[in-house]
Amino acid sequence: MDYVHFVETLAQRRCADCLANDRVSSADIYVNVQPLSGAAANLAVYDALVEEGDVVMGMDLYQGGHLTHGSAFNFSGKRYHVVSYGVSKRTGQLDYDEIRSLARENRPRMIIAGFTSYPWAPDWQAFRAIADEVGAYLLADMSHPAGMIIAGAFPSPIGIADVTTFTTHKTLCGPRGAVIVSTDEDLSRLIDLAVFPGEQGGPHTQKFAAMAVAFKIAQSEPFRRLQWKIKENTAALAEGLQKREDNFAQEVLSQVK
Ligand SMILES: Cc1ncc(COP(=O)(O)O)c(C=O)c1O
Repeated sequence: MDYVHFVETLAQRRCADCLANDRVSSADIYVNVQPLSGAAANLAVYDALVEEGDVVMGMDLYQGGHLTHGSAFNFSGKRYHVVSYGVSKRTGQLDYDEIRSLARENRPRMIIAGFTSYPWAPDWQAFRAIADEVGAYLLADMSHPAGMIIAGAFPSPIGIADVTTFTTHKTLCGPRGAVIVSTDEDLSRLIDLAVFPGEQGGPHTQKFAAMAVAFKIAQSEPFRRLQWKIKENTAALAEGLQKREDNFAQEVLSQVK
């Protein structure tokens, strides 16, 4: 038991070290490494922060959001009053004025930012300002770019969002699992209780060790290079598509260069 606790704490501390930035130090980052997956992590955040029937805003599944961001097929769309935002038909990108209007009109208790299929970086500060204006919690789901964020190749929501979730098996290259991070001790207690005993029984303890290794590797130079390479490869792909006069690729290129 003591060994498991030691390894879990090591994974938590290394994760906090990876995510510390100019806004928040490692000591002020509270980490839960127990969620069995990204969907389970998001479910726990809903349980901790909002009540059934509350208004929640997330990105529409068909425009880049994840199932757990309010899809009608998922617990999130069934249990909460979901107001989805999407991309502008004109630019194909998020329109923060539109999102603000939607938030003013619907007064959500929680806004979710961070996506499954959206090729641009979210403006985390813009989401923060909108959430503050309507008194909502801001949940950042950085599942896809987690590795890039740790390597400094993508903007970080840590210290901006109230709570951040991410899977550990995408760009982070770790075991299949997920993490919930907050920078407020009271919120972190609510989240810990929502994960266990609220949602799960025993965690997959063997994953703590795999996460501790992944977070160690994530602080290395080869890992950093790999993450920047993802960005370079994206630019190369966009450039190739652009040669075929694809408008969408043109837009992507302007963002990644
Ligand atoms: C943005 C986002 N959040 C959460 C998840 C859910 O992760 P999992 O499959 O581990 O439940 C995914 C999965 O791809 C995702 O893209």
